[in-house]
Amino acid sequence: MPNAKITGTGWYVPDNVVTNDDLSKVMDTNDQWIVERTGIKERRWVKDRKFVGAAALAEPAARMALEKAGKTPADIDLIVFSTMTPDYVLPASSCILQKKLGAVNAGAFDVVAACSGFIYGLSCAEKFVKSGMNKCVLMVGAELFSNRLDPSDRSTTVLFGDGAGAVVIEPTDEEGGILSTHVHADGGNYEILYVPAGGSYDPISKGEHERIYNEGLQFLQMKGQELFKIGVQRFSEAIMEALTHNGFKIEDIDVFIPHQANARIIEMVARRMKLRPDQSIVNIDKYGNTTAASIPIALCEALDKGMIKKGDLVVMAAFGSGLTWGSAAIRWI
Ligand code: ACO
Repeated sequence: MPNAKITGTGWYVPDNVVTNDDLSKVMDTNDQWIVERTGIKERRWVKDRKFVGAAALAEPAARMALEKAGKTPADIDLIVFSTMTPDYVLPASSCILQKKLGAVNAGAFDVVAACSGFIYGLSCAEKFVKSGMNKCVLMVGAELFSNRLDPSDRSTTVLFGDGAGAVVIEPTDEEGGILSTHVHADGGNYEILYVPAGGSYDPISKGEHERIYNEGLQFLQMKGQELFKIGVQRFSEAIMEALTHNGFKIEDIDVFIPHQANARIIEMVARRMKLRPDQSIVNIDKYGNTTAASIPIALCEALDKGMIKKGDLVVMAAFGSGLTWGSAAIRWI
Protein backbone atom coordinates (compact mmCIF):
# COMPACT_ATOMS: atom_id res chain seq x y z
CA MET A 1 0.00 0.00 0.00
CA PRO A 2 1.51 3.39 -0.96
CA ASN A 3 1.72 6.30 1.43
CA ALA A 4 -0.13 9.52 0.60
CA LYS A 5 1.78 12.78 0.31
CA ILE A 6 0.72 16.41 -0.06
CA THR A 7 2.68 17.53 -3.12
CA GLY A 8 1.15 20.97 -3.69
CA THR A 9 -0.70 23.61 -1.70
CA GLY A 10 -2.61 26.73 -2.73
CA TRP A 11 -4.94 29.32 -1.31
CA TYR A 12 -7.07 32.28 -2.23
CA VAL A 13 -8.95 35.00 -0.36
CA PRO A 14 -10.93 37.85 -1.95
CA ASP A 15 -9.20 41.28 -2.06
CA ASN A 16 -12.03 43.00 -0.21
CA VAL A 17 -10.98 43.52 3.44
CA VAL A 18 -13.80 44.07 5.95
CA THR A 19 -12.49 45.38 9.27
CA ASN A 20 -14.25 45.32 12.62
CA ASP A 21 -14.65 49.09 12.31
CA ASP A 22 -16.41 48.58 8.95
CA LEU A 23 -18.88 46.24 10.66
CA SER A 24 -19.42 48.62 13.56
CA LYS A 25 -20.83 51.11 11.02
CA VAL A 26 -23.61 48.72 9.99
CA MET A 27 -24.34 46.78 13.20
CA ASP A 28 -24.16 47.25 16.95
CA THR A 29 -20.64 45.93 17.51
CA ASN A 30 -17.13 47.24 18.02
CA ASP A 31 -13.51 46.32 17.41
CA GLN A 32 -12.75 45.77 21.10
CA TRP A 33 -15.58 43.23 21.61
CA ILE A 34 -14.69 41.26 18.49
CA VAL A 35 -10.95 41.19 19.16
CA GLU A 36 -11.34 40.27 22.85
CA ARG A 37 -13.94 37.53 22.27
CA THR A 38 -12.63 36.05 19.02
CA GLY A 39 -9.20 37.40 18.05
CA ILE A 40 -10.60 38.53 14.68
CA LYS A 41 -9.47 41.94 13.40
CA GLU A 42 -10.62 41.66 9.81
CA ARG A 43 -11.98 39.17 7.29
CA ARG A 44 -12.30 38.98 3.49
CA TRP A 45 -15.73 39.09 1.93
CA VAL A 46 -16.48 38.78 -1.78
CA LYS A 47 -17.53 42.29 -2.80
CA ASP A 48 -19.75 41.72 -5.81
CA ARG A 49 -21.66 38.71 -4.49
CA LYS A 50 -24.07 38.22 -7.35
CA PHE A 51 -23.47 35.00 -9.24
CA VAL A 52 -20.17 34.18 -7.55
CA GLY A 53 -19.97 30.80 -5.81
CA ALA A 54 -17.54 28.74 -3.75
CA ALA A 55 -16.07 27.14 -6.90
CA ALA A 56 -14.90 30.56 -8.12
CA LEU A 57 -12.89 30.97 -4.91
CA ALA A 58 -11.60 27.41 -5.16
CA GLU A 59 -10.27 27.78 -8.72
CA PRO A 60 -7.25 30.05 -8.04
CA ALA A 61 -6.36 28.02 -4.92
CA ALA A 62 -6.54 24.81 -6.95
CA ARG A 63 -4.44 26.23 -9.79
CA MET A 64 -1.76 27.32 -7.30
CA ALA A 65 -1.70 23.86 -5.68
CA LEU A 66 -1.46 22.15 -9.08
CA GLU A 67 1.39 24.41 -10.16
CA LYS A 68 3.32 23.68 -6.96
CA ALA A 69 2.77 19.96 -7.48
CA GLY A 70 3.92 20.23 -11.11
CA LYS A 71 0.58 18.89 -12.34
CA THR A 72 -1.92 19.97 -14.97
CA PRO A 73 -5.71 19.83 -14.59
CA ALA A 74 -5.73 16.80 -16.90
CA ASP A 75 -3.57 14.90 -14.37
CA ILE A 76 -6.24 15.11 -11.64
CA ASP A 77 -8.21 11.88 -11.31
CA LEU A 78 -10.40 12.93 -8.36
CA ILE A 79 -11.67 16.21 -6.93
CA VAL A 80 -12.86 16.24 -3.31
CA PHE A 81 -14.51 19.58 -2.50
CA SER A 82 -15.39 20.40 1.10
CA THR A 83 -17.90 23.19 1.50
CA MET A 84 -21.08 24.07 3.34
CA THR A 85 -21.78 26.83 0.81
CA PRO A 86 -21.97 24.99 -2.52
CA ASP A 87 -22.72 26.97 -5.68
CA TYR A 88 -26.00 25.10 -6.22
CA VAL A 89 -28.21 22.58 -4.45
CA LEU A 90 -27.03 20.39 -7.30
CA PRO A 91 -24.75 19.55 -8.95
CA ALA A 92 -21.83 19.38 -6.53
CA SER A 93 -19.39 22.31 -6.52
CA SER A 94 -16.64 19.79 -7.28
CA CYS A 95 -18.23 19.42 -10.74
CA ILE A 96 -18.34 23.20 -11.22
CA LEU A 97 -14.66 23.34 -10.27
CA GLN A 98 -13.89 20.46 -12.61
CA LYS A 99 -15.39 22.47 -15.48
CA LYS A 100 -13.55 25.66 -14.50
CA LEU A 101 -10.22 23.84 -14.35
CA GLY A 102 -10.83 21.64 -17.40
CA ALA A 103 -10.02 18.63 -15.22
CA VAL A 104 -11.69 16.31 -17.70
CA ASN A 105 -10.25 13.08 -16.26
CA ALA A 106 -11.40 13.65 -12.69
CA GLY A 107 -14.23 12.12 -10.73
CA ALA A 108 -15.74 14.69 -8.41
CA PHE A 109 -17.76 14.85 -5.22
CA ASP A 110 -18.50 17.25 -2.36
CA VAL A 111 -18.09 16.72 1.35
CA VAL A 112 -20.36 18.59 3.79
CA ALA A 113 -18.78 18.72 7.21
CA ALA A 114 -18.75 22.49 7.87
CA CYS A 115 -15.67 23.58 9.82
CA SER A 116 -14.37 20.00 9.94
CA GLY A 117 -14.67 19.84 6.14
CA PHE A 118 -10.96 19.96 5.41
CA ILE A 119 -10.20 17.06 7.78
CA TYR A 120 -13.11 15.00 6.40
CA GLY A 121 -12.07 15.76 2.80
CA LEU A 122 -8.41 14.99 3.51
CA SER A 123 -9.46 11.71 5.08
CA CYS A 124 -11.36 10.75 1.91
CA ALA A 125 -8.48 11.78 -0.35
CA GLU A 126 -5.99 9.87 1.81
CA LYS A 127 -8.03 6.68 1.50
CA PHE A 128 -8.49 6.96 -2.27
CA VAL A 129 -4.74 7.42 -2.72
CA LYS A 130 -3.61 4.77 -0.21
CA SER A 131 -6.00 2.21 -1.70
CA GLY A 132 -4.26 2.62 -5.05
CA MET A 133 -7.46 3.81 -6.76
CA ASN A 134 -6.25 7.34 -7.43
CA LYS A 135 -2.90 8.86 -8.34
CA CYS A 136 -3.60 12.58 -8.20
CA VAL A 137 -6.34 13.91 -5.94
CA LEU A 138 -7.20 17.58 -5.70
CA MET A 139 -8.75 18.31 -2.31
CA VAL A 140 -10.27 21.74 -1.81
CA GLY A 141 -11.91 23.52 1.12
CA ALA A 142 -13.75 26.63 -0.06
CA GLU A 143 -16.39 28.77 1.51
CA LEU A 144 -18.40 31.78 0.41
CA PHE A 145 -20.42 32.36 3.53
CA SER A 146 -20.65 36.17 3.57
CA ASN A 147 -23.82 36.20 1.47
CA ARG A 148 -25.58 33.78 3.86
CA LEU A 149 -24.97 35.71 7.06
CA ASP A 150 -27.78 37.44 8.92
CA PRO A 151 -26.92 41.15 8.90
CA SER A 152 -29.14 41.59 11.97
CA ASP A 153 -27.24 38.95 13.98
CA ARG A 154 -24.01 40.47 15.25
CA SER A 155 -23.08 37.31 17.14
CA THR A 156 -22.55 35.27 13.93
CA THR A 157 -21.92 37.83 11.17
CA VAL A 158 -18.66 39.12 12.65
CA LEU A 159 -17.14 35.63 12.82
CA PHE A 160 -16.94 34.41 9.25
CA GLY A 161 -14.79 35.13 6.20
CA ASP A 162 -14.68 33.92 2.60
CA GLY A 163 -11.72 31.95 1.26
CA ALA A 164 -10.33 28.76 -0.23
CA GLY A 165 -7.44 26.38 0.26
CA ALA A 166 -6.34 23.41 -1.83
CA VAL A 167 -3.93 20.49 -1.63
CA VAL A 168 -2.78 17.94 -4.20
CA ILE A 169 -2.35 14.45 -2.77
CA GLU A 170 -0.34 11.74 -4.52
CA PRO A 171 0.94 8.26 -3.69
CA THR A 172 4.56 7.88 -2.58
CA ASP A 173 6.94 5.12 -1.52
CA GLU A 174 8.68 7.52 0.86
CA GLU A 175 8.17 7.07 4.61
CA GLY A 176 5.79 9.66 6.04
CA GLY A 177 3.16 11.86 4.42
CA ILE A 178 -0.37 11.60 5.80
CA LEU A 179 0.11 9.23 8.74
CA SER A 180 -3.50 9.18 9.92
CA THR A 181 -6.84 10.91 9.80
CA HIS A 182 -9.73 10.45 12.22
CA VAL A 183 -13.27 11.78 11.87
CA HIS A 184 -16.16 11.86 14.35
CA ALA A 185 -19.70 13.20 14.65
CA ASP A 186 -22.40 13.77 17.24
CA GLY A 187 -25.67 14.33 15.37
CA GLY A 188 -27.46 14.47 18.70
CA ASN A 189 -26.21 18.02 19.05
CA TYR A 190 -26.88 19.23 15.50
CA GLU A 191 -29.16 22.08 16.61
CA ILE A 192 -26.29 23.84 18.37
CA LEU A 193 -25.13 25.10 14.97
CA TYR A 194 -27.38 24.82 11.95
CA VAL A 195 -29.36 26.55 9.22
CA PRO A 196 -32.99 25.48 9.78
CA ALA A 197 -34.52 26.30 6.38
CA GLY A 198 -33.51 25.93 2.75
CA GLY A 199 -32.98 22.18 2.73
CA SER A 200 -35.53 19.44 2.02
CA TYR A 201 -36.85 19.53 5.62
CA ASP A 202 -38.10 23.12 5.34
CA PRO A 203 -37.59 24.27 1.75
CA ILE A 204 -37.85 27.95 0.87
CA SER A 205 -40.74 27.21 -1.45
CA LYS A 206 -43.65 29.32 -2.67
CA GLY A 207 -45.89 30.36 0.20
CA GLU A 208 -43.19 29.63 2.82
CA HIS A 209 -40.93 32.60 2.12
CA GLU A 210 -42.65 34.94 4.50
CA ARG A 211 -42.57 32.62 7.53
CA ILE A 212 -38.97 31.63 6.89
CA TYR A 213 -37.71 35.17 6.23
CA ASN A 214 -39.66 36.67 9.17
CA GLU A 215 -38.08 34.17 11.54
CA GLY A 216 -34.66 34.34 9.84
CA LEU A 217 -34.62 30.55 9.45
CA GLN A 218 -32.50 30.75 6.31
CA PHE A 219 -29.61 31.97 8.45
CA LEU A 220 -27.13 30.24 10.73
CA GLN A 221 -28.42 29.65 14.26
CA MET A 222 -25.65 29.21 16.79
CA LYS A 223 -25.51 28.55 20.51
CA GLY A 224 -22.08 30.11 20.84
CA GLN A 225 -21.27 29.39 24.47
CA GLU A 226 -22.28 25.72 24.30
CA LEU A 227 -20.29 25.35 21.11
CA PHE A 228 -17.26 26.98 22.71
CA LYS A 229 -17.17 24.46 25.57
CA ILE A 230 -17.76 21.43 23.35
CA GLY A 231 -15.22 22.75 20.87
CA VAL A 232 -12.43 22.95 23.46
CA GLN A 233 -13.22 19.39 24.57
CA ARG A 234 -13.41 17.89 21.06
CA PHE A 235 -10.29 19.70 19.82
CA SER A 236 -8.34 18.25 22.74
CA GLU A 237 -9.68 14.74 22.13
CA ALA A 238 -8.87 15.01 18.42
CA ILE A 239 -5.26 15.99 19.09
CA MET A 240 -4.81 13.14 21.59
CA GLU A 241 -6.30 10.61 19.17
CA ALA A 242 -3.89 11.66 16.41
CA LEU A 243 -0.94 11.38 18.79
CA THR A 244 -1.95 8.13 20.50
CA HIS A 245 -2.72 6.41 17.19
CA ASN A 246 0.81 7.11 15.95
CA GLY A 247 2.63 6.62 19.27
CA PHE A 248 3.57 10.30 19.61
CA LYS A 249 3.53 12.72 22.52
CA ILE A 250 2.57 16.41 22.65
CA GLU A 251 6.22 17.44 22.54
CA ASP A 252 6.66 15.56 19.25
CA ILE A 253 4.35 18.05 17.48
CA ASP A 254 6.35 20.56 15.45
CA VAL A 255 3.37 22.46 14.08
CA PHE A 256 -0.26 22.40 15.22
CA ILE A 257 -2.76 23.74 12.69
CA PRO A 258 -6.17 24.15 14.31
CA HIS A 259 -9.35 25.13 12.52
CA GLN A 260 -9.56 28.89 13.07
CA ALA A 261 -12.89 29.16 14.93
CA ASN A 262 -11.91 31.49 17.73
CA ALA A 263 -8.47 32.55 19.03
CA ARG A 264 -9.67 31.95 22.60
CA ILE A 265 -10.60 28.35 21.77
CA ILE A 266 -7.15 27.82 20.25
CA GLU A 267 -5.46 29.37 23.31
CA MET A 268 -7.51 27.25 25.74
CA VAL A 269 -6.76 24.06 23.81
CA ALA A 270 -3.06 24.96 23.71
CA ARG A 271 -3.02 25.59 27.48
CA ARG A 272 -4.90 22.36 28.19
CA MET A 273 -2.63 20.30 25.97
CA LYS A 274 0.51 22.12 27.19
CA LEU A 275 1.45 23.15 23.67
CA ARG A 276 4.16 25.79 23.39
CA PRO A 277 2.93 29.12 21.91
CA ASP A 278 5.20 28.67 18.88
CA GLN A 279 3.63 25.26 18.06
CA SER A 280 0.21 26.63 16.98
CA ILE A 281 -0.57 28.46 13.73
CA VAL A 282 -3.08 31.28 14.30
CA ASN A 283 -4.22 33.60 11.50
CA ILE A 284 -7.86 34.16 12.46
CA ASP A 285 -7.01 37.85 13.05
CA LYS A 286 -6.72 38.37 9.27
CA TYR A 287 -9.34 36.05 7.79
CA GLY A 288 -11.93 35.21 10.48
CA ASN A 289 -13.44 31.74 10.41
CA THR A 290 -13.28 30.52 6.80
CA THR A 291 -14.70 27.11 7.86
CA ALA A 292 -13.50 24.35 5.49
CA ALA A 293 -10.82 26.68 4.09
CA SER A 294 -9.23 27.72 7.37
CA ILE A 295 -6.79 24.82 7.84
CA PRO A 296 -5.41 24.80 4.26
CA ILE A 297 -5.06 28.61 4.28
CA ALA A 298 -3.13 28.39 7.57
CA LEU A 299 -1.05 25.53 6.14
CA CYS A 300 -0.11 27.63 3.10
CA GLU A 301 0.84 30.62 5.24
CA ALA A 302 2.96 28.44 7.53
CA LEU A 303 4.75 26.95 4.52
CA ASP A 304 5.29 30.38 2.95
CA LYS A 305 6.83 31.65 6.20
CA GLY A 306 9.15 28.61 6.42
CA MET A 307 7.45 27.41 9.61
CA ILE A 308 7.13 23.84 8.31
CA LYS A 309 10.26 21.93 7.34
CA LYS A 310 10.80 18.52 5.80
CA GLY A 311 10.49 15.87 8.51
CA ASP A 312 8.24 18.00 10.76
CA LEU A 313 5.23 16.44 12.46
CA VAL A 314 2.18 18.53 11.57
CA VAL A 315 -1.03 17.87 13.50
CA MET A 316 -4.32 19.36 12.33
CA ALA A 317 -7.61 19.37 14.22
CA ALA A 318 -11.05 20.76 13.52
CA PHE A 319 -14.47 21.05 15.05
CA GLY A 320 -17.75 22.30 13.61
CA SER A 321 -21.39 21.94 12.74
CA GLY A 322 -22.83 18.44 12.78
CA LEU A 323 -21.40 18.39 15.31
CA THR A 324 -18.28 17.04 13.66
CA TRP A 325 -14.63 16.90 14.63
CA GLY A 326 -11.45 15.19 13.57
CA SER A 327 -7.69 15.23 13.20
CA ALA A 328 -4.84 14.57 10.80
CA ALA A 329 -1.22 13.72 11.56
CA ILE A 330 1.25 14.41 8.76
CA ARG A 331 4.98 13.76 8.62
CA TRP A 332 5.94 16.50 6.16
CA ILE A 333 8.02 15.08 3.30
N1 ACO B 1 -20.51 42.75 19.24
C1 ACO B 1 -20.86 43.22 20.45
N2 ACO B 1 -21.56 42.49 21.34
C2 ACO B 1 -21.91 41.26 20.97
C3 ACO B 1 -21.59 40.71 19.71
C4 ACO B 1 -20.86 41.52 18.84
N3 ACO B 1 -20.48 41.09 17.62
N4 ACO B 1 -22.09 39.46 19.64
C5 ACO B 1 -22.70 39.21 20.81
N5 ACO B 1 -22.61 40.31 21.61
C6 ACO B 1 -23.13 40.47 22.97
C7 ACO B 1 -24.28 39.55 23.25
O1 ACO B 1 -25.49 40.07 22.77
C8 ACO B 1 -24.23 39.47 24.76
O2 ACO B 1 -24.81 40.65 25.26
P1 ACO B 1 -25.69 40.61 26.63
O3 ACO B 1 -24.74 40.15 27.70
O4 ACO B 1 -26.15 42.01 26.77
O5 ACO B 1 -26.78 39.62 26.36
C9 ACO B 1 -22.74 39.54 25.07
O6 ACO B 1 -22.12 40.11 23.90
C10 ACO B 1 -22.12 38.19 25.36
O7 ACO B 1 -22.53 37.29 24.32
P2 ACO B 1 -22.05 35.80 24.32
O8 ACO B 1 -22.70 35.07 23.20
O9 ACO B 1 -22.21 35.24 25.70
O10 ACO B 1 -20.49 35.98 24.01
P3 ACO B 1 -19.35 34.90 24.05
O11 ACO B 1 -18.30 35.35 24.97
O12 ACO B 1 -19.89 33.49 24.23
O13 ACO B 1 -18.75 34.99 22.58
C11 ACO B 1 -18.75 33.77 20.50
C12 ACO B 1 -19.54 34.67 21.47
C13 ACO B 1 -17.55 34.56 20.02
C14 ACO B 1 -19.64 33.42 19.35
C15 ACO B 1 -18.25 32.50 21.23
O14 ACO B 1 -19.33 31.92 21.95
C16 ACO B 1 -17.69 31.46 20.31
O15 ACO B 1 -16.67 31.66 19.66
N6 ACO B 1 -18.31 30.27 20.23
C17 ACO B 1 -17.82 29.18 19.40
C18 ACO B 1 -18.03 29.39 17.93
C19 ACO B 1 -17.40 28.24 17.16
O16 ACO B 1 -16.65 27.46 17.69
N7 ACO B 1 -17.68 28.08 15.92
C20 ACO B 1 -17.00 26.97 15.21
C21 ACO B 1 -17.81 26.27 14.36
S1 ACO B 1 -18.49 27.27 13.10
C22 ACO B 1 -19.09 26.17 11.91
O17 ACO B 1 -18.97 24.96 12.01
C23 ACO B 1 -19.84 26.76 10.78
